[in-house]
Amino acid sequence: MATTTSPRGTRGQRFFARWYPGVMDRAERAGQAEIRARHLAAARGRTLDIGTGNGFSVAHYPSSVTELVMLEPNPALRAQLQRRTQGIRAAAWQIVDGDAAHLPFGDDAFDTVAASLLFCSLPDPAAALSEVARVRRPGGTFLFHEHVRGEGLRRVLQEVAAPVQRRLADGCRPNRDFLALLSAAPFEVVEVEHRPMPGGAATVVPMVVGRARPA
Ligand SMILES: C[S@@+](CC[C@H](N)C(=O)[O-])C[C@H]1O[C@@H](n2cnc3c(N)ncnc32)[C@H](O)[C@@H]1O
Repeated sequence: MATTTSPRGTRGQRFFARWYPGVMDRAERAGQAEIRARHLAAARGRTLDIGTGNGFSVAHYPSSVTELVMLEPNPALRAQLQRRTQGIRAAAWQIVDGDAAHLPFGDDAFDTVAASLLFCSLPDPAAALSEVARVRRPGGTFLFHEHVRGEGLRRVLQEVAAPVQRRLADGCRPNRDFLALLSAAPFEVVEVEHRPMPGGAATVVPMVVGRARPA
């Protein structure tokens, strides 16, 4: 989805904002929250979280994050996110509208860039990865946490479900090969863990959680 033009967002964005927080909350309680906390412990300094949604990650950023910038294009999710900011440990934070493919920041603006369950939703994920590389300072880290294409029967299920999931989940493609996109981008994967999403629907179970740096 591109940057929202209507103040209320698209119909798809409003629908997604109604069901996602409740459904995802089950996965958070089943173990997603622990995965976020462990993974985001590596965040440092000025940090950008792209596609923050209603904010399941925000309380898991450590106090080594000096400023947390949360980019979220869905107005209904931005409103929910605003209500979760009391959990943020960074000394400074801001919520901004924007599009991952055209980040509204200068070059080398962040020590850490993080995204969770974002790249499935993007029409142009390669452009977004170029933007991540552009806004991250030399030596900075990209933290990724994505559900991805599976193998065998899981992949068949994902292919069959893809058109419906895309409509119901604001553009989400369950069959996206995120690691292939990452390896075609100017990144070196430093660490990657393949693991199931706890409590996730069958189409979003395979996940990759890891760190990358400029190639
Ligand atoms: C599945 S949700 C994940 C939300 C959150 N990161 C989490 O882990 O719960 C995908 C998020 O990406 C956002 N998104 C969709 N298209 C985007 C774009 N072009 N740029 C930035 N964020 C986008 C959606 O609004 C939504 O908040």
